[in-house]
Amino acid sequence: MTRGLILGSARLGAMDRSVLVTGASRGIGAATARAFAAEGDRVAVHYSSSPDAAKEVLQSLPGTGHVLAQADLADPEAIRQMVDGAAAALGSIDVLVNNAGIYEPHPIRQTSYDQWQNAWTNTLAVNLIGPANVTWCAVQHMPRGGRIINVSSRGAFRGEPNQPAYGASKAAIISLTQSLARSLGPEAIAVTAIAPGWTTTDMAAEALSGDGYHRRRLESPLERVAAPNEVAAAIVYLASPLAEFATGTVLDFNGGSHLRM
Ligand SMILES: NC(=O)c1ccc[n+]([C@@H]2O[C@H](COP(=O)([O-])OP(=O)(O)OC[C@H]3O[C@@H](n4cnc5c(N)ncnc54)[C@H](OP(=O)(O)O)[C@@H]3O)[C@@H](O)[C@H]2O)c1
Repeated sequence: MTRGLILGSARLGAMDRSVLVTGASRGIGAATARAFAAEGDRVAVHYSSSPDAAKEVLQSLPGTGHVLAQADLADPEAIRQMVDGAAAALGSIDVLVNNAGIYEPHPIRQTSYDQWQNAWTNTLAVNLIGPANVTWCAVQHMPRGGRIINVSSRGAFRGEPNQPAYGASKAAIISLTQSLARSLGPEAIAVTAIAPGWTTTDMAAEALSGDGYHRRRLESPLERVAAPNEVAAAIVYLASPLAEFATGTVLDFNGGSHLRM
């Protein structure tokens, strides 16, 4: 048996892991929190501005030992307090899922220079620098044999014409994934990314309403979009002991709507 599998089964195979999921008040993050809890893990349900939704998610989780964790990911000090609090409550952080994100329209021809700058500043703060800061703080509490899963997007590869900062942030988080996979690999901390396509959440609600829904579901040869629990199941797989060797990679999860070599 390899070193990774030994460490994996000792540290991560018992399914009593402590898991921090950012953006777990809604959508993919809420489904991910439920999927880890169903495995027997203890989950820190992170939220920013939706305390009631986060409490509902917390109360819906099977098992015990779950906690809430609040921070605006644009605020580095709030992140430090949130991560330290989650780690204190859970005892450590075995698995970090950097899921929280924003998707603000700022098409270049219809956006003033001020709006353009704000969109880039806000998007990179929440989608890139925030996860980088959450990761730094979480690694301080991460034992040997941990997992970090970063939620990227299909948009990292095919472009986001109306949300260019979003596309750039999702490409950059893949680069962060690769860098940290190399720096943390010697500690048996595996770092991966997942790049979902359209998924039925609040973020995609407008794009998936009316005619947009039919156009977008037909982007996939399966003629549908994803449900949040499908993305969640893939994230749980990436955190599993047998997925350690996937470190540094990106799992495309877009129903074949954007295929690449
Ligand atoms: N849905 C899709 O089609 C799709 C496709 C590809 C990739 N993704 C990615 O999947 C991830 C989850 O997306 P989703 O569709 O589930 O989104 P969502 O339903 O809009 O939920 C977004 C989550 O992010 C949190 N969040 C937003 N701004 C924040 C901030 N400033 N600080 C901290 N947390 C913040 C929200 O918390 P509060 O509600 O508490 O503020 C919420 O829990 C994102 O990274 C997104 O880019 C989604």
